[in-house]
Amino acid sequence: MADKKAQLIIEGAAPVELPILTGTVGPDVIDVRSLTATGRFTFDPGFMSTASCESKITYIDGDQGILLHRGYPIEQLAEQSDYLETCYLLLNGELPTAEEKARFVSTIKNHTMVHEQLKTFFNGFRRDAHPMAIMCGVVGALSAFYHDSLDIKNPHHREVSAMRLVAKMPTLAAMTYKYSMGQPMMYPRNDLNYAENFLHMMFNTPCEIKPISPVLAKAMDKIFILHADHEQNASTSTVRLAGSSGANPFACIAAGIAALWGPAHGGANEAVLAMLDEIGDVSNIDAFIAKAKDKDDPFKLMGFGHRVYKNRDPRATVMKQTCDEVLKELGITDDPQLELAMRLEEIALTDPYFIERSLYPNVDFYSGIILKAIGIPTSMFTVIFALARTVGWISHWKEMLSSPYKIGRPRQLYTGYPQRDLKK
Ligand code: CMC
Repeated sequence: MADKKAQLIIEGAAPVELPILTGTVGPDVIDVRSLTATGRFTFDPGFMSTASCESKITYIDGDQGILLHRGYPIEQLAEQSDYLETCYLLLNGELPTAEEKARFVSTIKNHTMVHEQLKTFFNGFRRDAHPMAIMCGVVGALSAFYHDSLDIKNPHHREVSAMRLVAKMPTLAAMTYKYSMGQPMMYPRNDLNYAENFLHMMFNTPCEIKPISPVLAKAMDKIFILHADHEQNASTSTVRLAGSSGANPFACIAAGIAALWGPAHGGANEAVLAMLDEIGDVSNIDAFIAKAKDKDDPFKLMGFGHRVYKNRDPRATVMKQTCDEVLKELGITDDPQLELAMRLEEIALTDPYFIERSLYPNVDFYSGIILKAIGIPTSMFTVIFALARTVGWISHWKEMLSSPYKIGRPRQLYTGYPQRDLKK
């Protein structure tokens, strides 16, 4: 894996030989671990040039617009697989046989309920609390309820925690929504599939159980698949960093949820709709595009651009197609916000500023439109991202704990005062 070497020339010091690591695909990586022996280290805020770990789960080629989970292209998974099968793949490395899949689905279904006492936890929150604030709290609180799976050194415990998290996230997400609505929380129904069950818990009430539209359930399932993992992004890196200290899995996922919340990351799907509201009308688009281009204005077009993709986000392509299917199923043809979104996309894709910087619409641009059409309130958008991403987070956490790892501890370039004396 490390046949080639790089040489680092430091003025006034002996050259340092650094091994070059080669992955199965993707660019070579210079291994700088031995640099610390020279009393120096590297400076890379934002991790623009730094691989924080080795992983076998997900591969992204941002220039080509490729996203692979365990080698399988996201488009194929979205078309031919389903969310729970994708979860199995991410967690275990291979697609399941029919028998393995049936066992996995049955195990997930056996864990969909949450401890009854957890319900009381919700009462501590204001009804108008942001659902992500509640999710950070209740997911972290799982560690107070499931003590029997907290030994992170025990592979069986890790497995049980992973199952619990994947199974309980839709229940917790729907409970959060019901709490904000003042409606009774719905128990999960194990005769439904993962996406149907989520929609059931979100939109049904004890007095009215409506059938779930197969088209909407399929779209929901695709949204889950498209958000399942995305290698070492901010939230996944947060989960790994928290996990590297030996924190329990529920605490680590709560940390991931907190990191996801920001508008530069998972919070962008909510921010897209807020931005469309703010733009209000097609006639205002030019002014907002000008704001987005203005260096002195912090405004950015939400749902555009990506740290890694400098080509189309492959998830956005599938999402756009799903968006069309959902709008057709719901008979939505003249939604003004949708018209606005499409016009914005058109302008941004032809504007030199966006072309030169490779700022394409990302996954969040279209997911917000679909979720809104399904009837999910904007404040729940990032919760849905968190629900779907939980399997990615926990797969990375498991991968890290299954091989030797060190506590994550970045260094810094200190530019504060040197030592000085306190003279009173
Ligand atoms: N609107 C206007 N200009 C932009 C945008 C945007 N959405 N995104 C980047 N730019 C400009 C930026 O100002 C910079 O210009 P210049 O080179 O003249 O200084 C250039 O493009 C490069 O951008 P950057 O901020 O250095 O890129 P980054 O990799 O640090 O940031 C990003 C990536 C996703 C945080 C950023 O594109 C952004 O804030 N986008 C809007 C928020 C968003 O949609 N986030 C969701 C990402 S996808 C879901 C997920 O995986 O989390």
